[in-house]
Amino acid sequence: MQKCSVSVARRPESVGLDVVLQGWVRTRRDSKAGFSFLELNDGTCLGNIQIIAQATLPNYDGEIKHLGPGCSVTVEGRVQASPGKEQSTEVLATRVVVHGKADPASYPLQKKHHSFEFLRTIAHLRPRTNTFGAIARVRNCVCNSIHQFFQEEGFLYIHTPIITTSDCEGAGQMFRVTTLDPANPPWLNEEIDYTKDFFGRPAFLTVSGQLDAEALACALGKVYTFGPTFRAENSNTSRHLAEFWMVEPEMAFFELADNMDLAERFLKRIFRDVLHRCAEDMQFFNTRIDPTIVATLENIVGSQFVRLSYTEAVEILKSSGQKFEFPVGWGHDLQAEHERYLTEQRFKAPVILFDYPRTIKPFYMRLNDDGRTVRAMDVLVPKVGEIIGGSQREERYDVLLERMKEQGLDPEDYWWYLDLRKYGTVPHSGFGLGLERAVQFITGMGNIRDVIPFPRTPGSADF
Ligand code: 4AD
Ligand code: MG
Repeated sequence: MQKCSVSVARRPESVGLDVVLQGWVRTRRDSKAGFSFLELNDGTCLGNIQIIAQATLPNYDGEIKHLGPGCSVTVEGRVQASPGKEQSTEVLATRVVVHGKADPASYPLQKKHHSFEFLRTIAHLRPRTNTFGAIARVRNCVCNSIHQFFQEEGFLYIHTPIITTSDCEGAGQMFRVTTLDPANPPWLNEEIDYTKDFFGRPAFLTVSGQLDAEALACALGKVYTFGPTFRAENSNTSRHLAEFWMVEPEMAFFELADNMDLAERFLKRIFRDVLHRCAEDMQFFNTRIDPTIVATLENIVGSQFVRLSYTEAVEILKSSGQKFEFPVGWGHDLQAEHERYLTEQRFKAPVILFDYPRTIKPFYMRLNDDGRTVRAMDVLVPKVGEIIGGSQREERYDVLLERMKEQGLDPEDYWWYLDLRKYGTVPHSGFGLGLERAVQFITGMGNIRDVIPFPRTPGSADF
């Protein structure tokens, strides 16, 4: 008798096997004919397995007959073909060991349907629901694809620091890391003296691993970093988290067009893998969350992304005849409503926007010959908007120095980053994919707080 997952026990070819199954009861139904049905789930797949527990089992009256949602059990038994229409197999139990009861009077997942808002308040239990189990499996599949894709493409997986002293995006939205006592910090002329702090200078949680990744790409060629990133922006939206995961490839000798090609192939690979490897979960999202999601992904995998310069996009938006809340004008950042118009109404496809105004993008992006735009690229998808942000990097020392000064940065703070342009500089490019935005898009989930197990947002860091 071997431990077996529910996903394996549900396969028709498992009929005849003696198995040990372990998981949590979803429901119990009693038959008048002297046995009970237990629906068991162990997280390995969306579907449950039906357990038949006969009244002849020694603990039937004492324990089994009292099992309900949330109880944990080990079941030994034989897999047999099921006469039911819903499933092809079931398990006839020879032994049921009860590990943990769940009092039906207080267990919060008694009833079948709960709002996502309510489930956020029980983030420790929501993984036991169909939706959150499916999200966890899709998220795992996406991460697996990310690694497979880059490994197959010859990238090195590198690790960039989480604690940093530089603000990559220059937006000043960083969480401070300090060991100073807030009640009694060391003062120096009315200001806190951070030379007395742990690192001898102000330090923060990183907003992006890009700058360090560039140093490695400028020695190793093609690299990617994949880790948590942190933004202290006070955005209470369905697309923003204060802590999210980002995968950032960085490639020496890549120009912007190479970067766009890579991003497109990369996303298609992820979507294709999820459709193929998580078919049951994706069908669930298609039925329960968004009836267009599978067709949308299949379409995207088989067609080309639209590529459009920022300037062209502004022209399209201006002449669209559409009423927008935020005005459209060259030089202004595009708002979610503008991005959605382009992807959902105008092109009905992912759109890669490139060559943005220099004034609305960070210092590190390569200046175009027009002097007004930089070699930026954002990948936009329907509903979610921007899921990738990237650029060709400024590799010319003098131009980079000017851009830093223009954006009020102290070049001394970035001396090592400037060094990369002083010694053997090369054209190079990279981008960042927000993992949660990708999972949100793939599953059709409306709120980004529901695609990470324990979300961190302004005012909320429970669990
Ligand atoms: O566009 P962003 O800010 O780009 C960078 O950080 C670059 N340094 C990346 C690079 O070139 N290596 O962020 C990249 C992506 C966004 O497109 C979005 O998907 C995600 O990260 N993202 C967020 N996801 C959730 N919550 C937030 N607050 C996010 N901010 C950005
Ligand atoms: Mg961006």
